[in-house]
Amino acid sequence: MKTYRAAIVGAGIIAKLHVRALRESERTVFTAIADIDPERARVLAEPSGAAVYEDYRLMIAQEKPDIAIVTLPHHLHKEATIFCMEQGCHVLLEKPMALNAAECAEINEVAAKYGVKALVGHMQHFFAANIKAKEIIESGRLGQLVAINDRRHHPYFLPDRPGWFLDKARSGGGVVINLGSHSIDKIQWLTGTTIRSVKASMTYYGERGDVEGSASLFMQTSSGVPAMVSLCGYNNVAVNETELLFTGGQLKITGSQGLWIGTFDQPYEPVSTEGFAEPFAAQWNSMLDCVEHGMEEGISGIYGQSVCAVVDAAYRSSETGKEQEVESFSTTEEVSVR
Ligand SMILES: NC(=O)c1ccc[n+]([C@@H]2O[C@H](COP(=O)([O-])OP(=O)(O)OC[C@H]3O[C@@H](n4cnc5c(N)ncnc54)[C@H](O)[C@@H]3O)[C@@H](O)[C@H]2O)c1
Repeated sequence: MKTYRAAIVGAGIIAKLHVRALRESERTVFTAIADIDPERARVLAEPSGAAVYEDYRLMIAQEKPDIAIVTLPHHLHKEATIFCMEQGCHVLLEKPMALNAAECAEINEVAAKYGVKALVGHMQHFFAANIKAKEIIESGRLGQLVAINDRRHHPYFLPDRPGWFLDKARSGGGVVINLGSHSIDKIQWLTGTTIRSVKASMTYYGERGDVEGSASLFMQTSSGVPAMVSLCGYNNVAVNETELLFTGGQLKITGSQGLWIGTFDQPYEPVSTEGFAEPFAAQWNSMLDCVEHGMEEGISGIYGQSVCAVVDAAYRSSETGKEQEVESFSTTEEVSVR
C-alpha cells in the first residue's frame, strides 16, 4: 500500500476535520501544518507529532509533501495553491475553489502545466443523504425531475465568525459564495447537470462587514430543470433542506444525514442512510484515489470552476437586475458532474 505525505495550509475551523481524516487514514502520514497563528497549528499538530510552521511556503519547500490541503481564507486560495503546485504538490483545496471562475481557470492552467491535481473539497458528494438521493434519482423510479427547492438559513453575522468572511475583498462575498456554493454543488452533482442561468436578488443588512446577508436565486439546469435557492444569514430559524420534485413523488434531504421519500398518497417516510463513511474521511480517500489512479471523480478543478462560475453569474445578476447566463459552463460536455 502506497502512503502519502500530507501537509495542511491553514489551521482554522475546518482544518480540524481534515486533521482527523489524515490521522485516521492508513495511507497517509500527516507531516506538517502551517498557520500565521502558530498556536492554532500547534494544537492540531500535537497529537500526531506533525511539524508546525508559521510560513506555509517554508513548510512546503522543506517538508516536500505529496499533497497539500489548503484551508485558507478565499482570497489566498489561488496564490497558495499555485505555490504548492509549482513545488510539485497535488492540492486538495477547500470550497469555494477561489474568489471567482477566472482565478479557478488560472489554477487549472497551472495544474495542467505541472501535471498535478488541484481538486476541490466539495463535501456534498460525501454526505450519506446526498449519496442515497443520487442513487434514487439515477434509478428513475420517481419519474421525471421537475423542480428543486433548496433552503439554507443560518445566522451568518455572529461574533465568532472570522472577520475575513464578512469582508468582500477577502471572501468574495457572503452567503452566496460561502453557503450558496454548497447549494449549487448539491444541485449540479445530484442531477448530473450544470447550472446554465441565474436570476438573483440579494440584501445587505448584516451588522458587520460588506457582504450580502440573504439571496434568492432562480436557476435553470442544463437539462431545463428549475432550481430555487433561498439563502438567509439573519436572525432566522436554522434550515438546511433540499426538496426534489418528480412526476412520481419527491425527495427531501435535511442536513447531511436525513433523507425522506414521499408521494401524494404516502407522506414522507425516512430512507436509511446508515453504513456510509464519515464524510471528511471519504473525501480524503477519494483524493488519494484520484492522485493514485489519475481520476477526478467529480471534485476536479474544472468542476470547482463550474461552481464558481454560477456564483459569479449570481453576483452579476444581483448587480444588473437581469438573468445571467453562466459563463463557460453552459453544457454538460465541458464538465464532469459524476
Ligand atoms: N467544507 C465545508 O463544509 C466548509 C466549512 C467551513 C469552511 N470551509 C472553507 O474552508 C476554508 C477555511 O475556512 P475556516 O472556517 O476554516 O476559516 P478560519 O478563518 O477558521 O481558518 C483560516 C485559517 O487560515 C489562517 N491563515 C490566514 N492567512 C494565512 C496565511 N497567509 N498563511 C497561513 N495561514 C493563514 C488563519 O490564521 C486561520 O487559522 C474556506 O475556504 C471556507 O469556505 C468549508
